[in-house]
Amino acid sequence: MGHRSETSLWWQTGVIYQIYPRSFQDSNGDGTGDLNGITQRLDYLAETLGVDAIWLSPFYPSPMKDFGYDITNYLDVDPIFGTLEDFDRLVAEAHARDLQIIVDFVPNHTSEEHPWFQESRSSRGNQRREWYVWRDPSPDGGPPNNWLAVPGGSAWELDEHTGQYYLHSFLKEQPDLNWRNPLVEDAMFDVLRFWLERGVDGFRIDMAQRILKDPDFRDNPPDTSSDRPYKSLGRYDSQLHVYDQGHPDIHAVYRRVRHLLDSYSSSRPRMAGGEIHIFDYSQWASYYGIELDELHLPFNFGLIGVPWEAAAVRRVVDSIEGVMRPGSWPNYVLGNHDEHRIATRAGEAQARVAMMLLLTLRGTPTVYYGDELGMTDVPIPAERIQDPWERTEPGLGLGRDPERTPMQWDASPNSGFCPPEARPWLPISENCGRVNVQQEYDDAGSMLSLARTLLTLRRQHPSLHLGSYHPVELGESPCFAYWREEGDERHLVALNFTGESQNLHIPNGGGGRLRLSTTNPDSDLVVDLARLTLSPNEGCIVDLRGR
Ligand code: GLC
Repeated sequence: MGHRSETSLWWQTGVIYQIYPRSFQDSNGDGTGDLNGITQRLDYLAETLGVDAIWLSPFYPSPMKDFGYDITNYLDVDPIFGTLEDFDRLVAEAHARDLQIIVDFVPNHTSEEHPWFQESRSSRGNQRREWYVWRDPSPDGGPPNNWLAVPGGSAWELDEHTGQYYLHSFLKEQPDLNWRNPLVEDAMFDVLRFWLERGVDGFRIDMAQRILKDPDFRDNPPDTSSDRPYKSLGRYDSQLHVYDQGHPDIHAVYRRVRHLLDSYSSSRPRMAGGEIHIFDYSQWASYYGIELDELHLPFNFGLIGVPWEAAAVRRVVDSIEGVMRPGSWPNYVLGNHDEHRIATRAGEAQARVAMMLLLTLRGTPTVYYGDELGMTDVPIPAERIQDPWERTEPGLGLGRDPERTPMQWDASPNSGFCPPEARPWLPISENCGRVNVQQEYDDAGSMLSLARTLLTLRRQHPSLHLGSYHPVELGESPCFAYWREEGDERHLVALNFTGESQNLHIPNGGGGRLRLSTTNPDSDLVVDLARLTLSPNEGCIVDLRGR
């Protein structure tokens, strides 16, 4: 498996690093991260860590009901985060370090405070009425159909003043735009042009599969299955989401998005990535486009919902590989601003194995900020809860604050994120005295050192950043092993998903050199793959070249 693409581009060979701007670095002492803070930390990203691109979650003007995913102006920077000039400086400084910039594009909904929505809701006859999705009440006066909002409750909100309901796939403060109106597409494509002209290298399209729904607004059927490929979203999971998202017309929109990006790609390639929460992988892969002319990287969340077991993880990877066509390029994530951190989901020891997996699979990895340190979810006391999702379905743990806490830079009060006297917008982890950049930088056994070495190896070896992927048959073993090969390079990656040592027999393996182990600092050992022993929680990379 593994089709080598003709040319290798930054978004294929590189590693993306996701920054949640509120939480990365505060430069002005208000307890909230900002763009200048990110600029100050670019050397960390480019040199210390060695990633290739950064994706910035939204920094646009917003009442922050959904912390920036509710936008009032797509063409500016919220004063909390800085100014457009700060953004331009960030882009210039990033490019000077060969770091690409990906920004979040939120096409499905605006803030209710966006002037477009203010106009739209002002009267049924307003010229922007059709910019959003308005429907009459059902005959009993209730919502027009049974669609549910992702964070809970009906996806429809009655606007008393005009007597119609508007659609909101998320919070009621986030009305859905009507992408069936060509004026909406024009306006949103102008947004893409605006940022492309400011030099951005790509977009992460928020809820990309959501923008076109059933034009007849049919009810969703019930979902009676109990098997969830993804975390439980409460009431939202009681339906099959066949009509409230992913209408086939969506593909034409993404072909046009791709065309637009291509028209800006003569100087350097621009990339469209998109959030696609689909776990039927052939359907997921349709977002690459039949002619591979839609999204370059439909983000794949397979490793997030999966139980942390070798067989289950291998099934995800093999399913992804199984739907890749020549020219399409896989990608993986272990965490993001909506998901519990990997070190919490899998435990600190397995987080190291997970990092090795992420950075050695075929395809583009996205690393969530702080995961390279082994940051864990932070319990949030009730009085400090910020995310409204915590309250929409109480008790389900849908709140996303625990994984959004400030980056841990050093052991000082507030961990170098904001000045000691400031109050960080979310509490900083109690483990920040141990889990922080400064401390881990000097410790060869730290997660940061592991991540740095993995990134270096990946960059040095075409087998790791471009090569093919071939899983190794290990029978019932609770380990996962695969080959990565390119030209005369051959690496074996073997991962022990358990806390006990495991003996592996790698067929036709022969002898090789241990390049890196998550548990054994003594690299360069010669190992015999016919009798490979992995210690508890050990992942290793063995180099077979020139054996
Ligand atoms: C995406 C974002 C999430 C946001 C939602 C609505 O899932 O990642 O943070 O709440 O879209 O925009």
